[in-house]
Amino acid sequence: MNAHLKMDKPDNRNRLDNMAQGLIHTGMDRPEGPLKVTGTATYAHEDHQPGMLHGVLVRATIARGTLDSIDAAAIEKLPGIRKVMHGDKFLRNPAQGTANEAPVQGSSEIYYLGQPVALVVAETFEQARHGAQSLELQVTAKSAVTSPDSDDAKVETPDDQQSSMGDLDAAMKDAAYTVEETYTTPGHTSAPMEPHAAIAWWEDDKLILRSTSQMVKYNVNEVADSVGISADDVHLMSPYVGGGFGSKLGISPDAVAAALAARELGAPVSVAMSRQQVFESTMRRSETVQHFRLAADKDGKLTGIGHRARVSQLPDESFSEPVTQATPFLYRGENREIGMEIVRINSTCAGSVRAPGEAVGITALEIAMDELAVKTGIDPVELRKRNIPEKDPSDGRDFSSHTLAAALDDGAETFGWKDRTSGQTDGEWLIGYGMSSAVRVNMIGESHARVTLNPDGTVLIETDMTDIGTGTYAILTQIAGEMLGVSQDRIETRLGDSNLPKSAGSGGSWGASSAGSSVFLACEKLRQEIAKKLGCDEADLTLRDGTATAANKQTPLSDLVGGSPMESTGVIEPGKTMKEVRQATFGAFFCEVGVNRVTGETRLRRMHGSFAAGRILNAKTARSQCLGGMTFGIGMALTEELIHDARDGHIVNRDLGEYHIPVNADVPQLTVNFLEERDPYANPMQSKGIGELGICGAAACILNAIHDATGVRVRDLPATMDKVL
Ligand code: MOS
Repeated sequence: MNAHLKMDKPDNRNRLDNMAQGLIHTGMDRPEGPLKVTGTATYAHEDHQPGMLHGVLVRATIARGTLDSIDAAAIEKLPGIRKVMHGDKFLRNPAQGTANEAPVQGSSEIYYLGQPVALVVAETFEQARHGAQSLELQVTAKSAVTSPDSDDAKVETPDDQQSSMGDLDAAMKDAAYTVEETYTTPGHTSAPMEPHAAIAWWEDDKLILRSTSQMVKYNVNEVADSVGISADDVHLMSPYVGGGFGSKLGISPDAVAAALAARELGAPVSVAMSRQQVFESTMRRSETVQHFRLAADKDGKLTGIGHRARVSQLPDESFSEPVTQATPFLYRGENREIGMEIVRINSTCAGSVRAPGEAVGITALEIAMDELAVKTGIDPVELRKRNIPEKDPSDGRDFSSHTLAAALDDGAETFGWKDRTSGQTDGEWLIGYGMSSAVRVNMIGESHARVTLNPDGTVLIETDMTDIGTGTYAILTQIAGEMLGVSQDRIETRLGDSNLPKSAGSGGSWGASSAGSSVFLACEKLRQEIAKKLGCDEADLTLRDGTATAANKQTPLSDLVGGSPMESTGVIEPGKTMKEVRQATFGAFFCEVGVNRVTGETRLRRMHGSFAAGRILNAKTARSQCLGGMTFGIGMALTEELIHDARDGHIVNRDLGEYHIPVNADVPQLTVNFLEERDPYANPMQSKGIGELGICGAAACILNAIHDATGVRVRDLPATMDKVL
């Protein structure tokens, strides 16, 4: 049985409202939670294999140049060392590889400091690490451009990332109020709790790989491409992932190195990155320089918006941080200029980190909007409400749904925005209040899932979708439980295995909607089959607690299934609704800060977020996603910053002791509200992505509050003490 839905038109059926099992939207606990907290969920590096060897990556120590030779023989004499993999043996397959699909490694060309150039394999991890640290590299350095500010840097302005409408210069000239400022954000690292790690072994010509993977379907192709085999010969397993935040979207050097070494040595090989290697050799969020021009009339209504952003990237990599992604549609204004510049530098590959684009782009826009609020004397909530467009201002498309005004009102009400008093102090602390809007584009990706109803009435869900801590196991279990009327303890969900039906994976906030819809469709098909067996319409069928009720007659599901399992595959595919309407999620942040008048230290005192993302599938995991996003917003506002050595670009603060992610003491009470919403354009469940919304604009809320408290406008993130004093 197969059910396939291409989203070419809105699905207004409200299928998941008032279903009998009552599982959807509840804060159902994660079914895998007990495994995780008892240490019995095996993460990639815990799946030790008999006879397993250990590999440690060796990094390039210059920013650009060539690796001329290494003294492998000296290292291979050390106790326990089995092999130093380098050069051709360690190169990703040059015939098929493209820089964008696999890590740059092994090549004799060095593009950045930290690039993996060799792997030392030994019987124990300690021996391998000793060998890697002792290995001497002969290199020839070439002149490198390691700073985006360098005069020697090559700057590209890709045509497809520039757009303009009307006449912004004229709008700026005619405006009653203008803001023209430059905002800068530093590089960020994704910082998942679990460092990247892989264990690889070969069974005949087939590669078996345990890895830390967000998107199994794509990662299989990337590793096959790198190793030079067919994707059919890769079995990748990633059932538990300790956070990704973008850094595990693509295959990383540990996995390719482990695969190549395992083939060479005929034994399982594990490669685990140290925290320093994760910082240096996976990816970073580019620093950004963002120039904003806002033109407004006397009522604060925008007539023009200009947003020119500059980001950096390695030579030849196609990704660039999509900083201006939501600028075209968040606010009104008929005159627009949007542009992107990409500076080519020799520094760790830039990639997607925690809401690429909006996380930093909307943060800068929302500081600029606060500057406009101050200039016009209009309340910042009111200013934003006046600037909500009827249709997408860039192309006239309708919004699938628009909830910014509702989120602003709900947030203001919950926080008590109207009751705030400016100019309060608390001892040495100056108190201030700030707010900002949240916005993130909404997407789905093609996803397949198989749902099996067993003769004993239990249910099995299978897809290669991952759970990177986001709650996939819980959410898919809830969807099937709701649709099939089966309690959660009778459902098994298997994820993160390339032998299972292919999903869109975890990225871009599309995971739950995409994989969830495929499970929904498979279950809908099963319901239709059950109705057929009972001779009723599916609409008249009630499934609850393992029992089907139709025309007042109750039949246990196990009786209906019969002797062999009922199996169904669901496929969701994006269609016209992704293009014909503008789909986005919206929200609003409010916060109170205290800034110490002696030290310039900022302490966040409380923060609230109100969000709308269509149907909320699991109240607890959705809330946790938003709390996490707001927490990263605190980091972006106050502490997080990759610092590069001016001489060679290397990341100086390459561990969690020096790169400051907020810890409990930095995070006060955070509260989250969800607005009741259904978006029929998004998918048959009418849900939208919630994963990244909580960070998009969150830092601006805090910076705006610092301005309210002190009169200091920090435009260069993070707002460290020296900038506030
Ligand atoms: Mo995300 S930063 O697209 O995993």
